[in-house]
Amino acid sequence: MIYSRIVGTGSYLPEKIVTNADLAQRLDTSDEWIRSRTGIRQRHIAESTQSSSDLALPASIQAIAAAGIDASDIDLIILATSTPDYVFPSTACLLQAKLGIHGCPAFDLQAVCSGFVYALSVADKFIGSGQHKCALVVGTEVFSRILDWSDRGTAVLFGDGAGAVVLRADKRPGILASALHADGSYADILSVPGNVCGGRITGSAFLQMNGQAVFKFAVKVLDEVARETAAQCGMTPEDIDWLIPHQANLRILESTAKKLGLGPEKLIVTVDRHGNTSAASVPLALDLAVRDGRIRPGHKVMLQGVGGGFTWGAALVEM
Ligand code: UT7
Repeated sequence: MIYSRIVGTGSYLPEKIVTNADLAQRLDTSDEWIRSRTGIRQRHIAESTQSSSDLALPASIQAIAAAGIDASDIDLIILATSTPDYVFPSTACLLQAKLGIHGCPAFDLQAVCSGFVYALSVADKFIGSGQHKCALVVGTEVFSRILDWSDRGTAVLFGDGAGAVVLRADKRPGILASALHADGSYADILSVPGNVCGGRITGSAFLQMNGQAVFKFAVKVLDEVARETAAQCGMTPEDIDWLIPHQANLRILESTAKKLGLGPEKLIVTVDRHGNTSAASVPLALDLAVRDGRIRPGHKVMLQGVGGGFTWGAALVEM
């Protein structure tokens, strides 16, 4: 049996930080409202010249260095994003060129805020097939580009960033289990309902959301999918060392941990500093906790995604 393990992590955040106080200067909002409803204090925002592949590059270089491999060892790139550089070519292909590697398959995966968990699960299956040995799995976003900055209901929630892991074939399992789900009948509660047509955008190019519907859905499915994933390998939530849910809102994170019977000390939180970075949020939080020494070899980490589609999923990983 061929398994896959995470052997290196990396991340990148744009330099520019926008605080709640900054937003309160141009929107009818306040630091108090944003903190108490979401836990967010600040977010990083990309320069207008920085695209998703630009953010993905330093995150990938860091993950490759942490894995102790050469970029040319990578034989598969799966990149999760909802804010691609172009309609096409894929952001994965653009990242491949920036990494200076040629020939390996590279493609984007679109599952919004579940994108990284989807991509990790797909890469695990590719490696398990025996056809690939070393995958670069990336989540990268410039959500600042799809926000209506005059809409206080959504503009305060999101940020930009990228995270990456190197997943390598191994005799010992690293991705212990994963579960993916979607229900397209909930498409309209979180969407950017526009497309490029005849040289213009038809529909809307801005993120639209029914916040309360998303909140309720997220809390329900994050609990269910964590239990489902742990059960696949005969485990229960108590066996988890660290919980990394998609970093959407501190209240969603805390209520998920509570429902799973996990104390706050097992929850990795970055939403306070990063905001919601969609597909980048889980690998960013993973990298942060690996680098600050909380997540160590042998630890079992539950990674969870939930977002537009609606999509949701989880991967239980032994580091
Ligand atoms: O990856 C998934 C992405 N999405 C999410 O994670 C969103 C999940 N949902 C949420 O996090 C919450 O629903 C929100 C943080 C978006 C909103 O919190 P809420 O407690 O559900 O507030 P609400 O939408 O019920 O709005 C309460 C009030 C409204 O005013 P009225 O109608 O009571 O007068 C809003 O207009 O808060 C108002 N409001 C704001 N006030 C100050 C909405 N946004 C803001 C704001 N500042 N930024």
